[in-house]
Amino acid sequence: MKCLSPSILAADYGKLAEEIRKVDEAGAQYIHIDVMDGAFVPNITIGAPVLADLRKYTDKIMDVHLMVKEPDRFVEDFVEAGADIITVHAEACTHLDRTISHIKEQGVLAGVALNPATPISTITHVLEMVDMVLIMSVNPGFGGQSFIPYTLDKIVDLRRCLGERGLKLDIQIDGGVTLDNIDDILDAGANIIVAGSSVFHGDAGANVAAFLEHMS
Ligand code: DX5
Ligand code: ZN
Repeated sequence: MKCLSPSILAADYGKLAEEIRKVDEAGAQYIHIDVMDGAFVPNITIGAPVLADLRKYTDKIMDVHLMVKEPDRFVEDFVEAGADIITVHAEACTHLDRTISHIKEQGVLAGVALNPATPISTITHVLEMVDMVLIMSVNPGFGGQSFIPYTLDKIVDLRRCLGERGLKLDIQIDGGVTLDNIDDILDAGANIIVAGSSVFHGDAGANVAAFLEHMS
């Protein structure tokens, strides 16, 4: 199933609950929560306490993207705060297999993310363990960046690899997604679409509707 996951990084942090209500009511199936620690990426955003408050305002899937070093330290906090999916970066985990098991043991879905330059082969051995693979199409840390075109090839390669192994994982794309490149991204095989600036800059409700029309 194709789903839209608006990234609140691009929303007005002064009225996050209202911003989330807009995209929720417009039909977005996920809410993408970008968590940054200032160490794995050169930016700092929000922690579990903010998610716990936002959880009260939507029943949509809370899609938590941990851009933090050694994320095991925070898994329980984000589960307690209401995360439905916790995605960690392969590059940020000393023991990725153990971290994925740790997330699954909490009863939530586990995702693994790859930065643009990190090859798919990095996660070959854990594909049976995860529920979703996040392909970063920008270098993580900021919204509003331009889509990196070679990441389309990674989606194609990953979808082919999953097909050969009979795995039906979700492939999430994250970074620089717009109404101009969404069709190519869907054709490549991604089915969970993260969009920040192209949703929250302007009329968020109308932007969600426009994305969902392309995805139907
Ligand atoms: C970047 C984040 C992305 C970002 C997407 O590190 O992981 O989720 O917020 O924002 P746009 O869609 O504006 O590139
Ligand atoms: Zn993200």
